[in-house]
Amino acid sequence: MSIIPNGNTAKVTVPELLQRKSSAADSPKKKITCLTAYDYPTARLMDEAGVEVVLVGDSVAMVALGYDSTLPLTLDEALHHTKAVRRGVKRALLVADMPFGTYHGDVNESLKNAVRFVKEAGAEAVKVEGGERRLELIARLTEAEIPVMGHVGLTPQSVNAMGGYRVQGKTAGGAEQLLRDARAVEAAGAFSIVLEGIPRELAAEITKTLRIPTIGIGAGPDCDGQILVLHDMLGLTFQEPPKFARRYANVGEVISQAVREYCADVQSGNFPSDAESYHTPKAAKGRKTIFLAS
Ligand code: KIV
Repeated sequence: MSIIPNGNTAKVTVPELLQRKSSAADSPKKKITCLTAYDYPTARLMDEAGVEVVLVGDSVAMVALGYDSTLPLTLDEALHHTKAVRRGVKRALLVADMPFGTYHGDVNESLKNAVRFVKEAGAEAVKVEGGERRLELIARLTEAEIPVMGHVGLTPQSVNAMGGYRVQGKTAGGAEQLLRDARAVEAAGAFSIVLEGIPRELAAEITKTLRIPTIGIGAGPDCDGQILVLHDMLGLTFQEPPKFARRYANVGEVISQAVREYCADVQSGNFPSDAESYHTPKAAKGRKTIFLAS
């Protein structure tokens, strides 16, 4: 597989990301680049291409496992994918999304689940959805030395409560609540926060208000960094991408075309060719014994 090295080999860490926060007093800092990954080859490709934060998103449920929402994803499934991604990532910071139901009850149980991502799967941080309601949990995880990435706005695990995947914070009251949520996440000790599906003006205000970096997805260009779901940007989903997801390649079409050509070659006898076949050594010709050919 061809890999285009990025040349930058310094390990990305939580303290380094905190330094990347742009403040009014600063000259603008370089934006933080994040993408989701769910398996070894894509994780390795994106790590070597220079992405700084790799998130094993619970979006794996929809884009790689074929579920209708992120809700059915189990802890074991999420751990399995995080382990595969861990093997492909050397430089980027590896963040694991905690699945729905693994951090919504007892805080001790939630802490145990988060510890599994670090201890068994090699994650360097975990991500949890929700604002003010997650104050105690985020504080507890941070106290246990597990860096936390927050996530507010259009939080897909709240799809039933929200009544669908809708842009959040469009009313004055909604915007105020989101500001409170983002402040609570920061106050609880999170090192960064994803802002998803909110007006760019509100994202800009939250970004200005917080001391931790904001990572936007469908939140406009003023956040401290950006994240996309890999399958959206590569054209590997079976629907039109959302408005905010720029399509950088059409890998679905490349795979489809390659498979069509393969089927045609097999059926026409064009594959495999003689050069793609092993041959019986001359000395063995005429014998009954089967030799391993070169
Ligand atoms: O699960 C996911 O992929 C996410 C990102 C969209 C932030 O939470």
